[in-house]
Amino acid sequence: MIPSVLPTYNRAPLSFVKGEGSWLIEADGRRFLDLGAGIAVNALGHANPALTEALTTQAQNLWHVSNLYQIPQQQQLADKLVDATFADTVFFTNSGTESCELAVKMARKYWHDKGQPERHVIITFDGSFHGRSSAGIAAAGSEKMTKGFAPLLPGFRHLPFGDHDAIKEAMKQPDVAGILIEPVQGEGGIRPLPDVCLKGIRALCDETGALMMLDEVQCGVSRTGKLFAHEWAGVSPDIMMVAKGIGGGFPLGAVLATEDAASGMTAGTHGSTYGGNPLGCAVGNKVMEIVSDPAFLEDVNRKAGLLRQGLESLVARFPDVFESVRGLGLMLGIKCKVTNVDVVKAAYDAGLLTVPAGDNVVRLLPALNIPDEDIAEALNRFEKVATEVQPS
Ligand SMILES: Cc1ncc(COP(=O)(O)O)c(C=O)c1O
Repeated sequence: MIPSVLPTYNRAPLSFVKGEGSWLIEADGRRFLDLGAGIAVNALGHANPALTEALTTQAQNLWHVSNLYQIPQQQQLADKLVDATFADTVFFTNSGTESCELAVKMARKYWHDKGQPERHVIITFDGSFHGRSSAGIAAAGSEKMTKGFAPLLPGFRHLPFGDHDAIKEAMKQPDVAGILIEPVQGEGGIRPLPDVCLKGIRALCDETGALMMLDEVQCGVSRTGKLFAHEWAGVSPDIMMVAKGIGGGFPLGAVLATEDAASGMTAGTHGSTYGGNPLGCAVGNKVMEIVSDPAFLEDVNRKAGLLRQGLESLVARFPDVFESVRGLGLMLGIKCKVTNVDVVKAAYDAGLLTVPAGDNVVRLLPALNIPDEDIAEALNRFEKVATEVQPS
């Protein structure tokens, strides 16, 4: 008999009743150190007092109003994002995949309104992940996500990740609307795109007019130690997808764009019942206030250094278990020699939560404010895990 919850997830036999900072707690009191943070969602830890306050204060006044009306919390958050980034304008969504939908629509509408509707192809990359909607799976293109769901949304061209010659060649085609890439691939196995590649993509977009579209759903919102990951390369996109961390655990996403890139999106061309609702935006405003503070970002980078140093040392001490550490800031991956899922399972037994990713990688995406002592404890537990899974 089919379970009452549609069985699309492979769930671990863990069930939490409470969260406190970087810890999740089961009903019997067993505590787990959470280095997954809801896959980069709980950017400020579980039950963060400042976010709880923002949410409950808003909840006592107004939960939802339609986008038929002005929503001041939405306006404030849009202003904050515009002030802090390349963007001139923002549309709010409820998830990463919805942000992907709009990014694709925006790029196509841009060229349609410029009188070149034949420019509708979006270049994307192997190993990418952009969500589970029809546009999201067609954009990522992997068989694992698309099998059985044909016909797929047309108009995507897939290239090997970071192959600049292939990108150069593909960008010459007259039907290219834009290029969509994660500055650091998350699901694909924590693969940072070299700065030189992002710079090269920006230059090719400037040459051809194609729109540079970044998916910062996982790597954005201070996760890499800059407010948005592309800032490390010193270039800015035309369109950017955001979600996960921006809501700190409340479902919230956004598409940020330049005035030019967004020029096709006039009244009636897009909408969302819940996108930008007062509850989500009240939390988003508080998240932005905290994570965009330079002192906070400095601390993220310091904590990232501590964690990375500890992981590098584990890799050196357990060469049969781990191969290397990669990633940026607090978006780290350990490429394993043993099976990554075995490491994740052994970590459960050690009271440590990590997340598997592609390319046999174990992902570490802790809360950005994880206390130093929790980093030290996580490294102790990881050492136990390594001993446990070490081939005899
Ligand atoms: C880079 C990236 N894009 C898009 C998505 C989809 O986001 P959501 O699951 O919120 O729809 C994810 C989710 O993991 C992601 O990591």
